[in-house]
Amino acid sequence: MRMLAHAVAQPNIALVKYWGKRNLEENLPAAGSMSVTLDALWTRMSVEFPAAAAADTLSVNGLESGREMQARVSACLDRMLGGSRLPAAVRSESNFPIAAGLASSSSAFAALVMAASRAMPMPHDTLSLARLAGAASGSAARSFYEGIVELRAGGEQIDVRSISAAKEWPLCVIVAVTAEGPKAIGSGDAMIRSAATSPFYRSWVERQDADLELGRQAVRDKDFEKLAAVSEHNCLKMHSVMWTSRPPIVYWNEATLNGMETIRELQRRAVPVFFTIDAGPQVKAICLPDACGAVVSALAATAGVKRVISSGLGRGARELDDLPDGA
Ligand code: PMV
Repeated sequence: MRMLAHAVAQPNIALVKYWGKRNLEENLPAAGSMSVTLDALWTRMSVEFPAAAAADTLSVNGLESGREMQARVSACLDRMLGGSRLPAAVRSESNFPIAAGLASSSSAFAALVMAASRAMPMPHDTLSLARLAGAASGSAARSFYEGIVELRAGGEQIDVRSISAAKEWPLCVIVAVTAEGPKAIGSGDAMIRSAATSPFYRSWVERQDADLELGRQAVRDKDFEKLAAVSEHNCLKMHSVMWTSRPPIVYWNEATLNGMETIRELQRRAVPVFFTIDAGPQVKAICLPDACGAVVSALAATAGVKRVISSGLGRGARELDDLPDGA
């Protein structure tokens, strides 16, 4: 019997970041995090058992994927279904660059787990699926939920939930793409290096709960200035940990700094906007809907910015009846 299912997930961008693991085996984060799920970017995944080949196959945007990603996908399916499962044919399509600091692993592993859970008989509850995706890529657990999402890391397992529906506080996220190529070091290896070598790592982890509490209050009160202050501070702390790792982990380029300066200039003109940056050189601006046009124009006119992607807040991962566009 042929077992085939499709799913879609959107990437998420963290405002209070995940950077460091408490348990490498289970891929458990050292601290909690908070993110926004985007609606303009997506990864569609189709999973079919058994594959025509004897082993798993993975194609990404129509091309056979590299071995490292292939191994991560196989390990994720093993964790879900056991090592003696049937081989799977996995096809993935995304409408944005992969492994370039646009959170592609969050949407990819959320979509993979969602599709595989529909192709094979297994429990379906969202939190269990989010935990399985989180074991493959910490941020992927958050892409199962809509709007603004909190991940708690205090217990034996992570807990994840939406703390604000997409419509409740409709923020805009504008991504200034400053480089399209894949990043030099993946976030997983980079986090391990930071934990082992940055003198600031421990205090970064210790202060995460306080930042999360501020973020939670800001979301509860729809206090944009408070959310801006904690998010920028948290982002710069994470990058300070990266920069002080040995060897240093620097994802920024000149245009990243230009983009940050553009946001600062908008803030001086009282435009409600703030920036965040992940494990890559892209600048993500978060703003209130009325400011979206001004932020898009200012970032598009920034030296070194190649293109700008504008998004609202989106839904959690979900099954699709079919893949649109024949993907
Ligand atoms: O989920 P991973 O292993 O790709 O790590 C994500 C790391 C950051 O994007 C930098 C921060 C975050 O919380 O998403």
